[in-house]
Amino acid sequence: MPKVKLKDGRAVLVRRFEMGDKESLVDMYASLSDEALRWAMPPYTREIIERWLSNIQNLIVLVAVYDGKIVGHAQILKYAHARRKGTGDLIIYLHQDFHNVGLGTAMLRKLVEVAAAEGMHRLGLHVIADSERAVHLYEKLGFQKEGIMQASYLGEDGKYRDEVVMGLLLP
Ligand SMILES: CC(C)(COP(=O)(O)OP(=O)(O)OC[C@H]1O[C@@H](n2cnc3c(N)ncnc32)[C@H](O)[C@@H]1OP(=O)(O)O)[C@@H](O)C(=O)NCCC(=O)NCCS
Repeated sequence: MPKVKLKDGRAVLVRRFEMGDKESLVDMYASLSDEALRWAMPPYTREIIERWLSNIQNLIVLVAVYDGKIVGHAQILKYAHARRKGTGDLIIYLHQDFHNVGLGTAMLRKLVEVAAAEGMHRLGLHVIADSERAVHLYEKLGFQKEGIMQASYLGEDGKYRDEVVMGLLLP
């Protein structure tokens, strides 16, 4: 698979996750800065990551690899219920050394492409309204704002924030 060239010149491999990547994924989450986790739902412990991976049959997982380490993780959890066939929810986290240089765009484009190729028809996500870079990225990829969950997320400053529900219908 060709590497993705980032805006700062670094070349990163974006590929499907393999079970042998688990320790590197745990390490990436353990090394995320407070800023990277500002609008997230920490902690992302080994236990949480192993719980995700125990459901691997319902996941599409991409990782970004630089210098032998995982520096980005994007995944779709496909809903297993027959009434939710073809739908799933998406998350993405990048190591702080790789923010704002185009990696999120590249990973999400690839993830949407894989989801479409696997016959999915709807991707959804939740994002904190203040997470402006993430909202911009999702809108750039074609996700639409579908609703607001008012004051549903307690920020680290003790103030409640709105959460935006977004969705993308695949062709
Ligand atoms: C959110 C995240 C996935 C975005 O990925 P990224 O690689 O940093 O984003 P990219 O560089 O591909 O694109 C960022 C875009 O947002 C724009 N942007 C940057 N800061 C912005 C801001 N404060 N407001 C609006 N747009 C902003 C950039 O200009 C760029 O847009 P463009 O491509 O149209 O020029 C990544 O920063 C991240 O992992 N953050 C921490 C975890 C997180 O918040 N995850 C999402 C939880 S829902």
